Amino acid sequence: MEIKNTVSIITGGASGIGEACARKIIEAGGRVGILDLNEERGKNLIGQLGDAARFFKADVTSESDVEAAIAEVMASFGSIHVTINCAGIGIPAKVLSKKGPIQMDTFRKVVEVNLFGTMNVLRLSAHEMLKNNPNEDGEKGVVINTASIAAYEGQIGQASYSASKAALVGMTLPIAREFAEYGIRINTIAPGLIDTPLFDALSPQVKESLKMSVPFPRRMGKPNEFATLACHIIENPMINGETIRLDGALRMAAR
Ligand code: NAI
Repeated sequence: MEIKNTVSIITGGASGIGEACARKIIEAGGRVGILDLNEERGKNLIGQLGDAARFFKADVTSESDVEAAIAEVMASFGSIHVTINCAGIGIPAKVLSKKGPIQMDTFRKVVEVNLFGTMNVLRLSAHEMLKNNPNEDGEKGVVINTASIAAYEGQIGQASYSASKAALVGMTLPIAREFAEYGIRINTIAPGLIDTPLFDALSPQVKESLKMSVPFPRRMGKPNEFATLACHIIENPMINGETIRLDGALRMAAR
């Protein structure tokens, strides 16, 4: 699907990977609705992006927030062609630590945002894509979800995060098969280490050691490299039902 003149919804679009996707899609002539909890960052970004972008404060886990945001995107831009789900969290916790067994609220919160939030946004936005006229390839829409290489080799303390991201990998093919008759593709990107505000709290020494764990290129990924892949997925109609790792051949160790 050509990005020019399309409308994208980007969750977590106020920061990091989602922000990079918003910038790149606008550069390519698309318009974006950014859904994020962080109003300050979101409004600041909209100020830089101009008329092609709108910000909607929404918690991806809230059915009413997302319904309202999607209705506003439809009212502002008239249609939705692309959904990029980037909103996500990680709360490191061992299943059995010195404090005792993991709190179920902690486990539930991570799965709620990363898995249920992604499903909430994809179901409501794909429903709007059904209204689009198909292009010459029969396409009406594209969904991109953000997993992680922790879906495959999660570290100690990442049980909830890995479980939530592995679920995104697992649901990619069945949804692609289901959506085939509607002309909607769905793919997942599983990033390794991408240099975003997520890592702001780490010391330069820890960041340096993270970089050294990546075989090649020996550095963290750039948010724009994720955005470049996301744009390619949007533009290449044969990529469907797939999870693509973006990790410089990194395979995470146990800790
Ligand atoms: P980030 O922390 O820079 O951005 C995440 C954004 O999601 C924030 O703006 C935050 O406000 C928003 N968000 C969080 N919970 C939300 C909710 N309930 N509703 C709406 N918005 C919410 O993080 P980054 O690095 O850009 O991560 C984006 C995605 O990529 C996440 O799903 C993360 O798990 C995934 N990822 C990131 C990697 C990295 O190395 N940065 C590696 C692998 C996966």
